[in-house]
This record gives sequence, structure tokens and C-alpha cells, in this order.
Amino acid sequence: RAWHAQVITLFPEAFPGILGLSLTGKALQQELWQLQTVPLRPFGEGKHRNVDDTPAGGGAGMVLRPDVMGAAIEHARSQQAPGAPLIYLSPRGKPFSQEMARDLATRPGVTLICGRFEGLDQRVIDHYRIAEVSIGDYVLTGGELAAQVMLDAAVRLLPGVLGNADSTEEESFSDGLLEHPQYTRPAEWQGRTIPDVLLSGHHGEIAKWRRQQSEDLTRTRRPDLWNALKTRKDFT
Ligand code: ADE
Repeated sequence: RAWHAQVITLFPEAFPGILGLSLTGKALQQELWQLQTVPLRPFGEGKHRNVDDTPAGGGAGMVLRPDVMGAAIEHARSQQAPGAPLIYLSPRGKPFSQEMARDLATRPGVTLICGRFEGLDQRVIDHYRIAEVSIGDYVLTGGELAAQVMLDAAVRLLPGVLGNADSTEEESFSDGLLEHPQYTRPAEWQGRTIPDVLLSGHHGEIAKWRRQQSEDLTRTRRPDLWNALKTRKDFT
């Protein structure tokens, strides 16, 4: 079966969103992966299909009910392959990384839970041992955009999704370095030229220049990445 993404959400109409376009969209059409939204609303309580309630102990906002989310999770998991992780998108989660994207791409799929409001009842997180993942230190209004970010990063790594033209091996983060600058025609634009070495045809020199640029950029812009790299024993 194709890599199976499930998204539990109050806003199923937000999907596939941008994932329906370009590489990820083509891959979806080619059934290299499948996207299943699990709308939360039908699992809601009563005539109004309520999904949330006020926080115990008081305070602002609303909390997603554990019984409602629990029913949606049971429904989703009954259709998911064993080995697909269950992840709640939340700003207090483990920071998302290329390493996590690579791991996700090796699994049969993923089940993502999108929150809204003040979040999920903690008992659901504990009961299902849900992993929490953040896409960065900022607060979104809901998990839907974060889910799309994670799915995009994982799907492009699935076999057959990227053409040879955009190989994943020589890009930023595959070796832990930022990408070197790129240029294309025209040879001169707004009085600016392309570095001579790139037009020299000397492939060894070009590779050396690019490596140098990558290292300089990483050292100056991302000292955190640079210092992590230097302590890696395979760093040459
Ligand atoms: N939901 C709201 N903000 C988020 C973030 N930064 N990462 C993941 N999910 C979120």
C-alpha cells in the first residue's frame, strides 16, 4: 500500500491545500502516497456535535474533549498500518527536523492530530502515548498548516516522488550544511556577473567553491549547526 497520511481535523477542507500541487500533488495522483482526512466534527457530542468544552480550573479558551478526540483516533487507527506514528502538532512538541522527516518517510505512514483552541485534554495524550511535534517557536491558530509542513517534508523523500533533477542527497541538511548560492542566465544582470569559477567548466574547482560557500554560510548564519557539525566524527 501507498504511504498513508491521516489528518484528524476540524477543517478537512484545508486539505490537500498546497500538498495537492506540484511534486506532492503529482505524487498523490500517482498514488505514491494517500491522504485521508478524518473530520472531527461528526464525532462530536449531542445535536450540535460539540467537540470542546471550557478548561477545568477556569481560564480562557476551549479544550478539545477527550471522548470526542478518542473516538476520532480509534476510527483513524483502525484504518492505519501498524508502525505509523501518532503525532499531535503543538508548539510545545519536539522540534521538527529533517531527521524526523527522513524517519517518517521510512514508516508506513503517519496519523496527525490538529488542535485548535487551547488544545487537547492531557488524558488523550497520555492514554494513546501521543508524540508532540512543533514546527517552530511561534504559535499558529491550529495544527493544519503545521501538518502540511510535516507532510511536505516527508512525502518529498518517498521513493519516486523527487526526480533526479532535484536529488535530495546534495541539498541543505543532508550533510548538515546550508546550501551554496545558485546562478543562471543571463551572464550579466543589473551589472552583476556570475562567479567565474562556475563558468570555467572545471568541475573539481566548482565543487571546491561550492563547499567553501556552504561552510562559510553555515558558520556565519547558523553557528548552532556549524558547532554541531564540528563535533561529528564523520565531518571532513
Ligand atoms: N500548532 C500551533 N502552533 C504550532 C507549532 N508551532 N507547531 C506545531 N503545531 C502548532
